Amino acid sequence: MNLSNNKILITGGATGIGLGLTERFIKEGNTVIICGRRESALKEVAAKFPQVITKVCDLANPADRTELFDWVKANHPDTNVLVNNAGIQNWMDVRLMILTKRQVRKLRSTLLHRCI
Ligand SMILES: NC(=O)c1ccc[n+]([C@@H]2O[C@H](COP(=O)([O-])OP(=O)(O)OC[C@H]3O[C@@H](n4cnc5c(N)ncnc54)[C@H](OP(=O)(O)O)[C@@H]3O)[C@@H](O)[C@H]2O)c1
Repeated sequence: MNLSNNKILITGGATGIGLGLTERFIKEGNTVIICGRRESALKEVAAKFPQVITKVCDLANPADRTELFDWVKANHPDTNVLVNNAGIQNWMDVRLMILTKRQVRKLRSTLLHRCI
């Protein structure tokens, strides 16, 4: 894979591992788009790296996923890399394996359906 001159969408690119990838991909001469639920986190990254393109999006929400897809298609059709990084981790007692319906829904929608 050519590590420069790509247009890369990193989900959850404003914090943690995603932010590390954002920084590295910028350094390698790529255009980076990041998305996440918290506008404040996205703005913080954009303040540090003005070339970063940001989009508020809750990937657990089907309408938001469709909107993100349409937005990328309309505004950044040259996007050629997707880093499906956004995710959540829940502490649970594996001996009990009790998940609330809400936790199951959240896990399903974020982990299984996060691909756009
Ligand atoms: N850190 C580890 O040890 C580890 C180990 C194994 C796997 N992973 C996986 O690696 C990925 C990154 O981990 P991390 O530690 O960097 O996590 P993190 O710091 O919590 O970052 C997760 C990012 O995903 C975004 N995000 C979460 N839910 C979202 C949603 N519904 N829609 C849009 N964006 C969402 C968050 O932004 P908002 O809150 O603003 O939405 C945040 O920027 C995750 O998928 C995680 O499961 C991590």
